[in-house]
Amino acid sequence: MIRAPQFAVRAGSLAIIAFVVAMAGSRPSGADPSSASTTLRNAAEFSSISNPADRSRALFEEIGKVLTNPRCMNCHPAGDHPLQGDDSHEHVPPIWRAETGHFEVNCSGCHGGKNFSLHEAATYRSIPGHPRWGFAPLSMAWEGKSLGEICRQLKDVQLNGGRDLAALEEHIAKDDLVAWGWNPGEGRKPAPGSQQAAGELVQAWIDSGAECPR
Ligand code: HEC
Ligand code: HEC
Repeated sequence: MIRAPQFAVRAGSLAIIAFVVAMAGSRPSGADPSSASTTLRNAAEFSSISNPADRSRALFEEIGKVLTNPRCMNCHPAGDHPLQGDDSHEHVPPIWRAETGHFEVNCSGCHGGKNFSLHEAATYRSIPGHPRWGFAPLSMAWEGKSLGEICRQLKDVQLNGGRDLAALEEHIAKDDLVAWGWNPGEGRKPAPGSQQAAGELVQAWIDSGAECPR
């Protein structure tokens, strides 16, 4: 991976933040209200669907509300840039990915180990943080894909980081970067439901055959 010049990261974290605050202040704000769902049904609510394959597909549709929520999808983009906000606009300032041959700055120059609330006036109230903050690889991109496509890709060990279904469930239910989606910092709406509820939906989806929507 190409790294940002270290001097910029070490000497400049606060300067970069100040710069971003200034930049964001001048960014045209035309955010569309998000159509993202805020509630998540429990796995148990699907037990009335007696046909397991139908139940499995319905469960995945529900999981899809989490996966396609901006808190998750903004880091799983299909293009060269991470996305921001509920309208999933291109990241400000512009950030490119190394995977497509571009110079990729170190996310940690601005994204610290935990969420950072700002007290200065800006169009956003906090900067997301996590020690492993970074782009999901292109093989795990969800942006612009149908739920069926996302589902088949998630099950494909060639694309999903070598995870079998149990490891996939474990990742969604327990991973602490995934957990950020429900603790996204001031000024950001969390993903629907809870990480535990999402994990239970994934388990129920696996138990009913891990079928994908068409
Ligand atoms: C900060 C960026 C970031 C956010 C936010 C994020 N992810 Fe990811 N995600 C990644 C990265 C990086 C990987 C690859 C690392 C790995 O394989 O462990 C990944 C991998 C995954 C995988 C592995 C399988 C695959 O094919 O995608 C799943 C599942 C996943 N994320 C789910 C989620 C969910 C659900 C959310 C929201 C609740 C979420 N992620 C939010 C960066 C992010
Ligand atoms: C120069 C500073 C800077 C760098 C470098 C940077 N970011 Fe950001 N990023 C920000 C700021 C500031 C925000 C908050 C802005 C907002 O929410 O509108 C942000 C927000 C985000 C969000 C939005 C989360 C959400 O759900 O809305 C994602 C995703 C993101 N960054 C990904 C990345 C990735 C991946 C990298 C590294 C490849 C990176 N950023 C590098 C400054 C930076």
